[in-house]
Amino acid sequence: VKRVEVEAANGRYPILIGAGLLGDARHWRELVPGRRGLVVSDSEVAPLYLDALRAALPDRTLEEFRIPAGEAAKTLAQVGGAFAALARLRAGRDDAVLALGGGVVGDLAGFAAACWMRGIAYVQIPTTLLAMVDSAVGGKTAVNLPEGKNLIGAFHQPRLVVADTDTLATLPAREFRSGLAEVVKYGALGDVSFFGWLETNAAALIAQQPGPLLDAIEASCLMKAAIVARDPLEHGERALLNFGHSFGHALEAVSGYGVLRHGEAVAIGMVLAARLSARLGCAPAADAERLARLLHAIGLPTSVPAGTSAAALLDSMHLDKKNLAARLRLILWRGIGHAEVFSDVDERDVAAVLEPPRPV
Ligand SMILES: NC(=O)c1ccc[n+]([C@@H]2O[C@H](COP(=O)([O-])OP(=O)(O)OC[C@H]3O[C@@H](n4cnc5c(N)ncnc54)[C@H](O)[C@@H]3O)[C@@H](O)[C@H]2O)c1
Repeated sequence: VKRVEVEAANGRYPILIGAGLLGDARHWRELVPGRRGLVVSDSEVAPLYLDALRAALPDRTLEEFRIPAGEAAKTLAQVGGAFAALARLRAGRDDAVLALGGGVVGDLAGFAAACWMRGIAYVQIPTTLLAMVDSAVGGKTAVNLPEGKNLIGAFHQPRLVVADTDTLATLPAREFRSGLAEVVKYGALGDVSFFGWLETNAAALIAQQPGPLLDAIEASCLMKAAIVARDPLEHGERALLNFGHSFGHALEAVSGYGVLRHGEAVAIGMVLAARLSARLGCAPAADAERLARLLHAIGLPTSVPAGTSAAALLDSMHLDKKNLAARLRLILWRGIGHAEVFSDVDERDVAAVLEPPRPV
């Protein structure tokens, strides 16, 4: 079992990563707070893993709240359902929310925990690669509005993260590749040697070879933990974790939540950010193409889907909460491993890289 510690403002918490953790709770059972727990899960994950979680925590009173699988369920209405379930459970300040699922479940359950009685503990049990390397770590919780992704949320750190890599065996290949996009992000934004390691190990990772997979998850968690410890509330450096995300969130919102996987949108978004950086003369064009090649090798999309309106994407990017007033504030890069905040990007340059390929 690998263990990564996260230093959060309100205390430290462990991320445990390993095969078979759900079936063998010796390493973490005592770390789960509360006598009562609300397990938030979704319609795909609950039938697969809820029994194992119940068996791991035989001495707790557990209530379940199940949402439909997929991004479209990351709504305030579903958070209301979670509150009703917490009320049925009579959950108090000392009890906990357990998020069993991918990033959608984790973001929603974390937000419910942040609000219930002004904040109760929660535990992340991520079952997608994306959630293991990114969303379950760092305490960002949120739900979507039709107007934009993650517009309602809170910073609320989990008490514990339990990443059982065996759960990835049932994850559809498309979801697994989507998670690899966030792994590539860490190399792209801040670690050129990790990026090179990913180029060398892309085939092994796609084949889910246990050694490289565990190493990639651990490296990603270590990078995220370090950045979150230095900047928990995203006043500075943490914004770099959004490399590719302003474009990606716009792509998700404009194409309709759930059409593109989050990681797919981020993959396209990172390539757009890299191409925009090259267009602005800030980074080598060859680095943008190297990034596109790695993402393509992993089986991820690298260009705006045909038929997507560039104007609608720009509109959506303006609403993105990371933008100040009318100027576009974007995370771009100087090249592989060197992301940076650019706070005054000309909309016309952004529009130029957003144009989808014309149908022939
Ligand atoms: N909070 C953060 O810091 C942060 C960071 C990155 C992404 N996110 C959010 O995470 C979300 C994306 O997360 P995701 O990619 O995990 O999506 P997801 O939660 O929708 O999971 C993807 C699909 O896989 C299914 N699934 C999950 N685990 C499975 C398993 N082990 N076996 C079989 N099926 C399984 C789910 O039911 C779902 O259909 C987005 O909403 C994004 O905004 C948040």
